Amino acid sequence: MNQKVAWITGASSGIGEALALELARRGAKLVLSARREDELRRVANATNLPPSHVLVLPFDMTDEARLPGHVQTVLDHFGQIDYVFQNAGITQRGTVAETKFEVYRQLMEINFFGVGALTKAVLPHMLSRKSGHYVVTSSVAGKLGTKQRSGYCASKHALHGFFDALRAEIHEAGLHVTMVCPGYIKTPISLNALNANGQKHARMDQNQAIGMDPAECARQICNAVARHCEEVYVGGFETMGIYLKRFFPGILSRILRSRSGE
Ligand SMILES: NC(=O)c1ccc[n+]([C@@H]2O[C@H](COP(=O)([O-])OP(=O)(O)OC[C@H]3O[C@@H](n4cnc5c(N)ncnc54)[C@H](OP(=O)(O)O)[C@@H]3O)[C@@H](O)[C@H]2O)c1
Repeated sequence: MNQKVAWITGASSGIGEALALELARRGAKLVLSARREDELRRVANATNLPPSHVLVLPFDMTDEARLPGHVQTVLDHFGQIDYVFQNAGITQRGTVAETKFEVYRQLMEINFFGVGALTKAVLPHMLSRKSGHYVVTSSVAGKLGTKQRSGYCASKHALHGFFDALRAEIHEAGLHVTMVCPGYIKTPISLNALNANGQKHARMDQNQAIGMDPAECARQICNAVARHCEEVYVGGFETMGIYLKRFFPGILSRILRSRSGE
């Protein structure tokens, strides 16, 4: 990753922030994106990279029309894009029965349509160079469904369909896709989760509070990317759920219906 250009979305916090620090340590040049510019600048300072090696580029993932312009800004600055870490995302707490439908649209706009739009905006550049790597932060919830996260699970499952298809299409051109499925990682994600009415859940959930350190998560993600892994599971025992779903789906189903989803 030395001297490569890595664009990280969701870089203002949590896993994205940890990826910025890990990639800087590995010698990459960085583009840091999320909505909060002040937080992106804090992360940029923490990387200790020279100012010419880090570009702070704030935007909202749902502002699809502006994404091609942001790609041009990155190319004007660095001349190339080697990695896109599609990490920005938001989660949910609320049952299907109580969740307003616009909450589903909001989750899909950020977690799926924004990601798809940025992917398409970067693709012509990567195809023309015959080089590039998409790294997509999905979730264990992208491989199975759990209570109170129906829209989140749907958005993350959608990413797998989209990127598995893309991986097959771009293989010949020498491009790569790594899907990352974290389990519980110690980040503020539950604070920003949308409740049934679309308001902030605003609570640190126990599973995240005792989850994996984001720095360790970022280290494992970067190792998987360096090995060109197609899919990687990062976290604790909860990642075993993915194997249960594949090999013993009935057992997983019984476990999941007995859990509260809190
Ligand atoms: N933590 C976990 O346990 C866990 C488990 C599985 C998967 N994940 C996934 O990991 C990824 C990162 O989450 P995290 O745990 O690090 O949570 P986080 O600390 O809340 O980070 C989420 C990031 O996404 C950005 N973001 C949210 N909405 C955005 C929008 N509309 N436009 C642009 N950026 C936006 C946020 O920045 P701004 O607020 O500044 O925009 C923030 O940088 C997500 O995709 C999440 O689904 C997390």
